[in-house]
Amino acid sequence: MGSSTRFEMALKIISVVGARPNFVKIAPFLKTIAGYNQSSTTKNSISSILVHTGQHYHLSMSHAFFRPLGIPEPDVNLEVGSGSQAEQVGNTMIAFEKVLYRERPDWVVVVGDVNATLACALTARKEGVKVCHIEAGLRSRDMTMPEEINRLVTDCLADLLLTPDRFASENLRGEGMEGERIRFVGNIMIDTLENNRSQAKEVDLNAVVARYTHPDARRVQCRICDNSYALMTVHRPSNVDASKSLQQIASFLCRETSTEMPVIWPIHPRSEKKLKEFGLWGQILETNGLVLLTPVGYLEMLRLNMGARLVLTDSGGLQEECTVLGTPCLTLRSNTERPITLREFGGSCVLVGSDIDLIRKEFHDALDFPRRAIRPDLWDGHTAERCLQAILS
Ligand code: UD1
Repeated sequence: MGSSTRFEMALKIISVVGARPNFVKIAPFLKTIAGYNQSSTTKNSISSILVHTGQHYHLSMSHAFFRPLGIPEPDVNLEVGSGSQAEQVGNTMIAFEKVLYRERPDWVVVVGDVNATLACALTARKEGVKVCHIEAGLRSRDMTMPEEINRLVTDCLADLLLTPDRFASENLRGEGMEGERIRFVGNIMIDTLENNRSQAKEVDLNAVVARYTHPDARRVQCRICDNSYALMTVHRPSNVDASKSLQQIASFLCRETSTEMPVIWPIHPRSEKKLKEFGLWGQILETNGLVLLTPVGYLEMLRLNMGARLVLTDSGGLQEECTVLGTPCLTLRSNTERPITLREFGGSCVLVGSDIDLIRKEFHDALDFPRRAIRPDLWDGHTAERCLQAILS
């Protein structure tokens, strides 16, 4: 980083994480700060504080990501845990305000679109602390998604809007945001992917299955090999909170997909809870070819994605990783805030919503698609450096 960006007083930055996708995004940013500090004098080093709101608290959804991604232990854990939208946001704000009173940072850096992102941006702004939003400008235009509300409000409040792609920058300009607040820096999740790609390649697929097999799975899981299985994840309220849509997805998986090829499903706690609530858990456990896992670690998920014939998912991050790895992906949503991942814009994903006929058609079409990795502009593994540069300048 150029010496022109050095400053005379120690700058204090609080970085916030709350839920699983945040950990993957903050890791390269914290690493970049550490690298910057190594080459600085004490006077112009950055004082970096990591706050975990505790929205995700299960070991498998939270701390399992810290050591493998090189994230230091959080300096503060607000321990807000699960709850309604208002409870999570409200409890985070109350607890985070105390941290701001104590620490008086120059900047609060939030990533992504989870409740922790919104709550901490809002608290910081009200306390007059500058806010930087990494992954700004994504829009699904679907106000039933809690994440869309989080994105819109966070972007209104942030002083610095760091965007992952040109669509996102255009969205912000279209909403009237001033040009100097917006910087196109690229996709920070891809920094993490590039930092871990070679290590992930070494991971043994069947060892992942053996290690993460869900404790309720009674059958001996089938052996899997590269390019011969589907990988599935689903956790959005729109897919799992209504019995009809979850039942349709479960039935398609059990009756159709898993008869074609093994389907590996690392199951999110929210989805597991709902499958049990709607009486679908037994059917899932009894389906041959459905390989049910607990949530897996970052390296393991990257490896599963690298070897998958195709992915079915409603996760935003996974759509981006599929694009860079070239894995054909059926996006189980009717809209996306990440259009750059869609086939029509060069990506590897196609929107299929929860329409089973469309999912069936696209599933069979996708089997004929070869892997074709693409790299959108500035998804080059150096986004975290540009983020820090933007804050410093
Ligand atoms: C949250 C994010 C979503 C992100 C997802 C990744 C919001 C609004 N949503 O959704 O954008 O894609 O994280 O996983 O912030 N639970 C546990 N253990 C945990 C965490 C959750 O058992 O460590 C269970 C609880 O029953 C909880 C439910 O999962 O009620 C949902 O968790 P929550 O944090 O509310 O939202 P996610 O669905 O994970």
